[in-house]
Amino acid sequence: MTDIHCHILYGTDDGAQDLETGLKMLRIAYEEGIRSIILTPHYKPRHHHPDNSVLLMKMQELRDMMISMGIGIDLYLGNEVLYFNEVPERLRAGFINSMANSRYVLVEFMPNDDYSYIKSSLYGLLSEGYLPILAHIERYECMLREPDRAREIKEMGIYIQVNSGSVDGSLGRVFKKYTRHLIENDLIDFVASDAHDTHKRAPRFGRCIKYMNSRMGKEYVHRIMSDNPLKIISDEFV
Ligand SMILES: [Fe+2]
Repeated sequence: MTDIHCHILYGTDDGAQDLETGLKMLRIAYEEGIRSIILTPHYKPRHHHPDNSVLLMKMQELRDMMISMGIGIDLYLGNEVLYFNEVPERLRAGFINSMANSRYVLVEFMPNDDYSYIKSSLYGLLSEGYLPILAHIERYECMLREPDRAREIKEMGIYIQVNSGSVDGSLGRVFKKYTRHLIENDLIDFVASDAHDTHKRAPRFGRCIKYMNSRMGKEYVHRIMSDNPLKIISDEFV
């Protein structure tokens, strides 16, 4: 399986704070059956961001340490971008990383952002030739209020990601009900961990997969957890 959204790249955002925590998270991910990860440190307006050279160095450090620990996970770099006006320009300039160097971009918004703002921002990215993935769609109040909006977003050509902790219920009943509704209507493209630590927000897929397996079957699980994410890495259309 592949995890396309997590905060394991230590010391770069509010996720893993040190190398040791990053490695513990990778160990958990490996035991869950995850074999490829796109590291997605936050990129937000008016925040200080480490240079890409630092991100690449830390990613290489994780790779080197994994070898000595017997963990075989392929690592790729991306960002989780909190949308602001200069995002397309900063993507083009290489300050913001697309997902594993592909056309895919992982985009988030504030929970109370307007639907019209979310839609027009995503549309703007599409028209620049990017393939936007809306991060954890269940977090946005405007989506929860009107479940049909997920279909509208998808029909626009936007990809939809939900968090495994929302599907398995560990992030609360509201998120669980909404994400399961989306899954049962085949409206999502990706499940990811959005892991930040080794406890409450660890990279775990087990219970989420169990649910998807029983409700949607093995082929569905394979498509969402493996086939679709690998298409990001090879820069193909999902
Ligand atoms: Fe995240």
